[in-house]
Amino acid sequence: MIKQVIFGDPIDTGAIVKDIEREERLSEWQTEQLGDSIVFRCALEQKDIVYGLGEQVRGINKRGGRYISYNTDNPHHNDDSPSLYGAHNLLIVDGYRHFGAFFDTPGKVVFDIDCNNSGEIVVTCPKDVRVAELTGDSAYLIAREFLSVIGRSFIPPLWAFGFGQSRWGYKRKRDIDGVTEGYRNNNIPLDWICMDIDYMDRYIDFTVNEKRFPDLKGYAASLKSKGIRLVPIIDAGVKIEPGNATYDEGIRNGYFCTNHEGKPFKAAVWPGMTHFPDFFQPACREWFGNEYRKLTELGIEGFWNDMNEPAIFYSEYTGALNSLTPPPSTETEAENNAYKDYRNFYHSINGKRVLHDKVHNLYGALMTRAASEQLDKLIPRRFLLFSRSSYVGAHRYGGIWTGDNGSAWDHLARNVRMMPSLNMVGFLYSGADTGGFGGNCGRELLLRWLAFSAFTPLMRNHTAILTRRQECYRYGDTEDFRSVVSLRYKLLPYIYSEFVKAALYGDMYMKPLGFEFSDERSRNIEDQLLVGECMMIAPVIEKGAKGREVWLPEEMTEVRYDGENFHCEQIPKGLRHIDVKLNEAVFYVRKGKCVPVCKGAQCTDELDMRDVVLLGAGSEYRQYIDDGSTKDVSEDNIRVIFKQ
Ligand code: GLC
Repeated sequence: MIKQVIFGDPIDTGAIVKDIEREERLSEWQTEQLGDSIVFRCALEQKDIVYGLGEQVRGINKRGGRYISYNTDNPHHNDDSPSLYGAHNLLIVDGYRHFGAFFDTPGKVVFDIDCNNSGEIVVTCPKDVRVAELTGDSAYLIAREFLSVIGRSFIPPLWAFGFGQSRWGYKRKRDIDGVTEGYRNNNIPLDWICMDIDYMDRYIDFTVNEKRFPDLKGYAASLKSKGIRLVPIIDAGVKIEPGNATYDEGIRNGYFCTNHEGKPFKAAVWPGMTHFPDFFQPACREWFGNEYRKLTELGIEGFWNDMNEPAIFYSEYTGALNSLTPPPSTETEAENNAYKDYRNFYHSINGKRVLHDKVHNLYGALMTRAASEQLDKLIPRRFLLFSRSSYVGAHRYGGIWTGDNGSAWDHLARNVRMMPSLNMVGFLYSGADTGGFGGNCGRELLLRWLAFSAFTPLMRNHTAILTRRQECYRYGDTEDFRSVVSLRYKLLPYIYSEFVKAALYGDMYMKPLGFEFSDERSRNIEDQLLVGECMMIAPVIEKGAKGREVWLPEEMTEVRYDGENFHCEQIPKGLRHIDVKLNEAVFYVRKGKCVPVCKGAQCTDELDMRDVVLLGAGSEYRQYIDDGSTKDVSEDNIRVIFKQ
């Protein structure tokens, strides 16, 4: 069941696309208006678990923390970071009773989830907010109800499920050639390579540095013939550069956000001083989205949108290097490195001037929408698009990556815990920077991280400039890497099929165990996940560990891939210790189910996903399969395959 209560006069965020019945008051929450804020409270029982919040820190269970939805460019993720890059204001309480709420506002929201053992949840929102209240028989059913009203998740082409390599600092064609050769010569599969800001002319959007990347069109075509796609970055800020066509057109049409004086607001990002496109204006979205044509005409079919919180290094007002200031000393400062500037510029929404701060959390989502709506017209096939900043609703237009994490074990653990929360709010195509963005990633960490990312829809190794080289062939003996990345390709018939079915049916691709099993142990596990309908994973996320303890809530088939063969064993319900070597990955096929695996390949173009073997104790599998790029994604493409 879902109903909504409207408080004040909220801005339509576009998150919810279905009509929902309106009520006068909420059932589970007490409401109190305090000045410009409205506070919602509900009591928790001792055993209640609180799911939700999408891209946020701490556990799958959000209980015991304080969180702020106020999108932030924060490169220092830890369990006390109040905000990351996305705002996903869904909570689901799971205990004797099951209920949830989605706080739909583009402004700042503070969640205190039993932080001081108060035994309650306290949510503080701007006074104009729409609250969708959900009830159901389980947390899982509530999540599905929510997914049913926010619209179908973005589905990228098959190649986007292949492995991607990225690094800030591939400065010229030669660097990308090196990556292609490194992977192909070592027989480690690869489908795409990201081009970070280095490909542009002085970091100006929609330009290509012709000296360092001559004939990008020819180059993209020649890489594509080897099964490798180029995926360039696009940043939100447009460099102030009279004579540059993008800039001139933006100025001429009033497409940029304005300052207190009504002039285009100036803020520095990578290219120096920029203006921010006002994505709240439909005409601006169309214009900016159409600019991607400059790259699609060169054969590019994938993009990542960045710096769209928007990130601000300094502005015409603050004049200080926000990101270089010392660590914040108060929570307000910690909210955002550019929080002061978010009160210094305006959008034009239906002809009204609106302060950015009031609609802050929608900015990145609207950039994704701008790009996606036009790419859909520019490219006759499915395309890849993922963004750093997001709000619920953007999941229909693109995927997300989880921003500037670090090469550290707790960041891998956080990646594991965040995935199901992202899926609850529709972001199925998501993943972290495998190996970590900041810092130097060691061999063991990269292998263990790859062995987890092998199951996440977005599997990309990305790292920052000045860190050690993080490509899989840069760690001496490549055998272990070949084994782990190859497993991904052998599993693609399953991963792709489960992903598309989840999108089609409004389901999650990665779930907490507690969504399907009600025993206390399953409810509280934070380092095992259900992947699709038939699989459970238990990644090794501890430094130096030779294996780990695994909880099986039911009898399952344990499958171990050792780089050459799959070994299957029936395991009864219960606790179990497993050894996992660095080249291995272990997964579990659920009772009565099957997982299809294929031979694998160096890239998805060469993959035969029809030639599969079913692993597990079940007898059949419903496989979604298509040509990997058709826009006509439907149930008609599901076939039932039976075990031989
Ligand atoms: C931001 C992005 C990161 C990128 C860098 C340079 O920090 O999050 O992924 O590499 O900018 O463009």
